[in-house]
Amino acid sequence: MKMWSGRFRQPLDAQFERWQRSFEFDRRLLSYELAASGAHARALKDAGVLSADELISILEGLQQIGVSHNQVSQKTRAPSTSSGQAMEHPTEVVDDDAEDVHHFVEKQLVVRIGELGYKLHSGRSRNEQIATDLRLHVRAAIDELRKSLAEVCGAFTDRADQAGSAAMPAYTHLQHAEPVLVAHWLLAYVEMFLRDAERLADCRKRLNLCPLGSGAVAGATLPLDRNLMAEELEFAGPTANSVDATSDRDFMLEFANALSLLSLHLSRWAEEMIIFSTQEFGFVQLPEAYSTGSSAMPQKKNPDLLELVRGKTGRVIGNATALTMTLKGLPLAYNKDLQETQEPLFDAANTALGLLPLVAGFMKTVEFDYARMNEAAQSGFMNAWAGATYLVCRGVPSRLAHEQIGKAVKLCLEKHCELQDLGIEDLQALHPAFDEGFYDCLKPAAVLAIHDVVGGTAPARVKQGIAAARKKVEALREEVNFHAHA
Ligand code: ARG
Repeated sequence: MKMWSGRFRQPLDAQFERWQRSFEFDRRLLSYELAASGAHARALKDAGVLSADELISILEGLQQIGVSHNQVSQKTRAPSTSSGQAMEHPTEVVDDDAEDVHHFVEKQLVVRIGELGYKLHSGRSRNEQIATDLRLHVRAAIDELRKSLAEVCGAFTDRADQAGSAAMPAYTHLQHAEPVLVAHWLLAYVEMFLRDAERLADCRKRLNLCPLGSGAVAGATLPLDRNLMAEELEFAGPTANSVDATSDRDFMLEFANALSLLSLHLSRWAEEMIIFSTQEFGFVQLPEAYSTGSSAMPQKKNPDLLELVRGKTGRVIGNATALTMTLKGLPLAYNKDLQETQEPLFDAANTALGLLPLVAGFMKTVEFDYARMNEAAQSGFMNAWAGATYLVCRGVPSRLAHEQIGKAVKLCLEKHCELQDLGIEDLQALHPAFDEGFYDCLKPAAVLAIHDVVGGTAPARVKQGIAAARKKVEALREEVNFHAHA
């Protein structure tokens, strides 16, 4: 039986009927739909609409639906947000008549417990249900993503630790700029991913309110205890306004945009790794476990993982854009357009969730050619600013010091050598402040050491950076484990 056919004189056009359905994709919300239905059923009992026996039958029915469709909700209470379950994809749930997941559950319930099943929908609307299911889905996805992000950050921090004193060129404009520790470069990514984790936590905080009891638009038509329903589903409380609650998809947009940023970070990383793995750079040896060959060129080892990470970023950002476009200009409150927000959301979440464990695996196994990186870090006049700093410390005004070292570089270019290869006479001809000490300040260790500020690449600072990153990653791990067990 349809959920709304009473006032219709004609059946729907068959093609339209199939076309307007969402079950094909919203069936993945089944566990949340069951949990939210359980909470609603309890509220109905408290409101005197269901007897105690009826409540038990309905809860048992819901539980059976969950079990037979292999869903998380064994007790049809708060859905677990622990890893793996939340993103389960119940593709095996098939029903040729179900319009959407709400209709599916009602039909299933009636098959199991008879007409009593139709009582479950008392005083509620699918508009509040879908809003609730989607919040639960995004919340669970956030918990999983943050867990994966902790692993990714852990992998990057471990590699930073292992890199020890190895240096590499840092680039600006993709031209040699200054040497940095390899660890310093790796920790830059840890900062990005930690920000991503924080953004997701922030989004979680804001979305963690329960729309149940908002009805179709104006609020429930029965005296339902919204606080209790919220509590059962582990929300911080009920949403404040029924018009907003049934039409709000901000949490999906925030989430998708946080994922855009996250994947953008991954894409920048992938791009760097692709460049560094070229024969021309040779900083990185692609791990065979994460590379593929060519069907034509027998010698090839290609960075497919990295390229797909970069490629899938376009997809995530596309999904965020699709969401924005769908919501733009919708009058309040519910409109069926909102159904179109589901697929981009699922795709963005799945894409991001799929990437992270692979990135962690890649980072654990990738080999860095430290010798080559060190060598590159010592060429191309990357000690020029250190040279200018030497003059500045001897009282030469910065602009003049810059100019003289620039001239020294020009001389080197003519002589095809590096700054340290210039004779003292050549240097003193440029400026009398040069003396033998100049050569010491150009040495790789000295160049690194002068960047001795908070957040700089001086080895002692990077050591502190690693320790600080470890602490932050540990704190993130503890937080995500707390949510998983909450
Ligand atoms: N499948 C619908 C959606 O995802 C559920 C809500 C339907 N509500 C309605 N008023 N037709 O948006």
